Amino acid sequence: MFVNLLTIVFFISILSQLLKSNSQLVDNFTYNGFHRPLNLISLQGKATVTPSGVLKLTRTTMHITGHAFYNQPIRFKDSPNDTVSSFSTTFIFAINPQTPTLSGDGVAFVIAPTSSLPLANSGEYLGLFNPMTNGNKTNHIFAVELDTILNNECNDTDDNHVGIDINNLTSVKSSPAGYWDETGHFKDLTLISGKRMQIWVDYDGLTHQIDVTMAPFNHAKPIKPLVSTVRDLSPILLQDMFVGFSASTGSVVSQHFVLGWSFRVKGKAPPLAFQSLPKFRELPHKRSSRITPLFIQVVIPIVSISLLIFLVRFILRRRRKFAEELEDWETESRTNRLKFKDLYYATKGFKDKNLLGSGGFGSVYKGVMPKTKKEIAVKRVSNQSRQGLKEFVSEIMTIGRMSHRNLVPLLGYCRRKKELLLVYDYMPNGSLDKYLYNIPEEVTLQWKHRSKVIKGVASALFYLHEDWEQVVVHRDIKASNVLLDADHNGRLGDFGLARLCGHGTDPLTTHVAGTWGYLAPDHMRTGKATTATDVFCVRGASTRSCSGEWVLLVDWVFGFWSEGNILGAKDPNLGTEYDQREVEMVLKLGLLCSHSNPHARPTMRQVLHYLSRDAVLPDMSRFDLHGSEMMLETYHGFSEVGMFTGESSLADSVLSNGR
Ligand SMILES: Nc1ncnc2c1ncn2[C@@H]1O[C@H](COP(=O)(O)OP(=O)(O)OP(=O)(O)O)[C@@H](O)[C@H]1O
Ligand SMILES: *[C@@H]1O[C@H](CO)[C@@H](O)[C@H](O)[C@H]1NC(C)=O
Ligand SMILES: *[C@@H]1O[C@H](CO)[C@@H](O)[C@H](O)[C@H]1NC(C)=O
Ligand SMILES: *[C@@H]1O[C@H](CO)[C@@H](O)[C@H](O)[C@H]1NC(C)=O
Ligand SMILES: *[C@@H]1O[C@H](CO)[C@@H](O)[C@H](O)[C@H]1NC(C)=O
Ligand SMILES: *[C@@H]1O[C@H](CO)[C@@H](O)[C@H](O)[C@H]1NC(C)=O
Ligand SMILES: [Mg+2]
Repeated sequence: MFVNLLTIVFFISILSQLLKSNSQLVDNFTYNGFHRPLNLISLQGKATVTPSGVLKLTRTTMHITGHAFYNQPIRFKDSPNDTVSSFSTTFIFAINPQTPTLSGDGVAFVIAPTSSLPLANSGEYLGLFNPMTNGNKTNHIFAVELDTILNNECNDTDDNHVGIDINNLTSVKSSPAGYWDETGHFKDLTLISGKRMQIWVDYDGLTHQIDVTMAPFNHAKPIKPLVSTVRDLSPILLQDMFVGFSASTGSVVSQHFVLGWSFRVKGKAPPLAFQSLPKFRELPHKRSSRITPLFIQVVIPIVSISLLIFLVRFILRRRRKFAEELEDWETESRTNRLKFKDLYYATKGFKDKNLLGSGGFGSVYKGVMPKTKKEIAVKRVSNQSRQGLKEFVSEIMTIGRMSHRNLVPLLGYCRRKKELLLVYDYMPNGSLDKYLYNIPEEVTLQWKHRSKVIKGVASALFYLHEDWEQVVVHRDIKASNVLLDADHNGRLGDFGLARLCGHGTDPLTTHVAGTWGYLAPDHMRTGKATTATDVFCVRGASTRSCSGEWVLLVDWVFGFWSEGNILGAKDPNLGTEYDQREVEMVLKLGLLCSHSNPHARPTMRQVLHYLSRDAVLPDMSRFDLHGSEMMLETYHGFSEVGMFTGESSLADSVLSNGR
């Protein structure tokens, strides 16, 4: 009996020894890196370990899987019909995407009945299932997926989530990657940032609580888990299971790394020794990919669309700004037509800095032609009516092309909206008025220049009146319309403008000017009259004051003349270098030209003769008696109706100081 008892005790001890050896199955392990020779780890698929000891589950090849399993079974249940014991695992992983914004497909911690999953598919199946096995209870697979692709078939919430999978790719529970910090705030993490991160998976065998927690590398385990659910794993897990990792790539690829791993049944996973982990170069810090795709999908299109809109508007506005309005008749005279754009750039956008001066018809701007670098003066004439514009343009272009040395060359014109732009040669020495009125003060002209100017203007007028095939009346002769070129030649500008702008209210002039080319003989003579006669034609528009001075001037000159001392009327700024006889003659000629009776005025031909002293001035004592009265009457008459201003006529201005 005693022997029997002993035998039983012996057997029991043997049995317990046997049981003990059974329970001596591994219940914990720790990998601070996966250094060769690999201890108890089996690699399948494309999984490798790097020389530095990093487990590399996939490489940047499309549609591959990689597995790494601890090759010893883990006893999850003490007996086949028992419940699953508590278990705990932690690992450090990193995902290096091929492109910073897209990555596939993910990596999972897996508990499987075998230490290999050869039939599992790549891509969205994460190397865990295939279309046949997905969702089948016979899988006995528990996984924690780190999913970086949004698969609607798997009810994924986004392309950056952590989920608990049971036999099925559709997670039982999932959450966007991140963690709850000490202050209770949720912090996003980006799985494919290339940064190292840590995961903890804890199962409580009594309460069936499954907690998945996540944190950045070297960060304490957050108290609040990221994903938790209550699920009894007893029907899922068999008594002995294998634990490991699975990863896959799809059409988009990434490298999935595991740097360290520990596991334990019935207890907390041993902590990892961070300082012992293999070296790993994290990707340089980038904007989190949750922002980057947003950036690509939203910000860039918005920015480029608004840029495009801006550009189109800019181009349209520019187009409109520089649009050329061509009318039929202009296609023929196109050679004279200049582009507004060129003029705009030439004058730097009609800047005030380039303004040469403003007159009754508009403003004159200095410019430099962009291509030829030629200096130009652009006159902007606001022109309300289009009527007669064609005739006007062709007229002034004809004159402008006459290239008389005493005419300001007209290079071309441009028409825009209600504006007419006339482009002249730039006259470097400006207009005569500033010399005569001494603005600025030191500026004056010597007699020999004045004489040259008088002769020049006279010859220009003669040319317009008689020498050309058609008769042209200038109608706006005044000091500011006589410009001095580089050699101080007087050149006549602004021909024809008075008519376009409705100036010249004198009916006679209006008529005469109306159409040159077919003038009645008497009108022609008037038209052909002297520079001084043009004074009558012009004055209308000007609104400047001191009309009294004008009367004074003529009166004044006339006074000197009747005293027999006409030289007394000369401009005091003239200095001493002048030909006394010539000055006297010119002053007298001025008076003659200012005669109130147009028939008494000499023609330009005669004027030229007088000036070149081919002819002698007629005896002027004839109008001695009533001439002065006549003249004064005339001038007074005009002054009463406000027909002229304090500006003197050209001849008078040249002859005297004008004020
Ligand atoms: N081709 C040119 N080269 C240089 N300066 C010029 C030229 N044309 C005009 N100017 C300058 O521009 C100023 C303004 O000229 P504008 O013709 O507009 O006025 P105005 O001659 O005083 O009066 P009006 O409108 O009766 O001709 C002139 O005083 C002159 O100094
Ligand atoms: C961990 O496993 C080893 C054998 O692999 C064993 O010696 C050790 O006691 C285990 N530690 C714990 C805390 O279970
Ligand atoms: C386990 O349970 C099954 C049925 O649920 C039963 O047939 C079997 O005997 C049980 N085994 C043990 C060891 O309890
Ligand atoms: C996977 O799980 C989801 C959600 O629980 C379920 O709708 C689906 O039918 C399952 N798949 C299979 C193949 O059973
Ligand atoms: C699950 O898999 C088993 C074996 O692999 C098979 O016999 C069964 O038909 C599958 N069930 C479903 C629902 O696909
Ligand atoms: C899919 O996810 C939504 C929430 O994201 C959930 O309400 C729904 O039940 C899920 N469907 C399945 C089949 O799991
Ligand atoms: Mg002018």
